[in-house]
Amino acid sequence: MDRPIIPLSELSPRELQSVAALHCAVMPTLLTDLGLTLTQRYYEIAARDPAVIGFASLAADDSATGWVVGSADPAKLAARLRRPLGGFARRLALLTLTRPRVILQLARTVLLPVQENIIQPGEIELTYIGVAESARGQGLGAELARRFCAASAAAGYKRVSLSVETENEPAIRLYRRLGFETVKEFREGKFHRLRMRVKLS
Ligand SMILES: CC(C)(COP(=O)(O)OP(=O)(O)OC[C@H]1O[C@@H](n2cnc3c(N)ncnc32)[C@H](O)[C@@H]1OP(=O)(O)O)[C@@H](O)C(=O)NCCC(=O)NCCS
Repeated sequence: MDRPIIPLSELSPRELQSVAALHCAVMPTLLTDLGLTLTQRYYEIAARDPAVIGFASLAADDSATGWVVGSADPAKLAARLRRPLGGFARRLALLTLTRPRVILQLARTVLLPVQENIIQPGEIELTYIGVAESARGQGLGAELARRFCAASAAAGYKRVSLSVETENEPAIRLYRRLGFETVKEFREGKFHRLRMRVKLS
């Protein structure tokens, strides 16, 4: 049986590593394209940052079964990942050789931020959420998203926003069930996305 949902700030380095591994396994993103080590670093930084809201659920063996994370300034969080520059630059150099398309997408995201992704005052972004395949369809995704919204309201935020790919139907259904509404449909590089938002009460 799963242990309760725990704030990221209370996880051990090993448990954060397990969250990063789950992220790499179930949700390929630009972050996971940078590799497990940098993804793990992202979660270590997130767990120490009081401006970040995040939770995970762990199985009895400490492997992560689900997580959610977000902040009002996701670009700042991503920028902290680039320090120290040496390791980050080495990773980019390797990607340039092995996966040049990832570099193009990364450059586009940094140099041409999409207007729809800009976070309004009073708003927080739910940046990543995922559940292990074996734990899906039992309400864990909904519970993680609810915990994120409740903690955001308690921190004084008025709205939660997020982006989701138009073909990700299970995620869109989950967000709609929780009251999220589509604000805009837009393109980000090769991706078609919806920007969704919910008002917190
Ligand atoms: C999207 C995602 C987080 C949903 O996680 P989940 O834990 O399966 O979500 P839930 O269990 O709350 O809801 C999923 C379904 O199970 C159903 N369900 C929930 N509790 C249930 C229960 N006790 N018994 C039966 N069904 C149940 C829900 O009604 C829902 O049905 P639907 O798909 O027809 O809408 C998961 O599919 C995932 O990790 N996807 C990959 C990563 C991803 O795409 N993340 C979002 C990027 S924006």
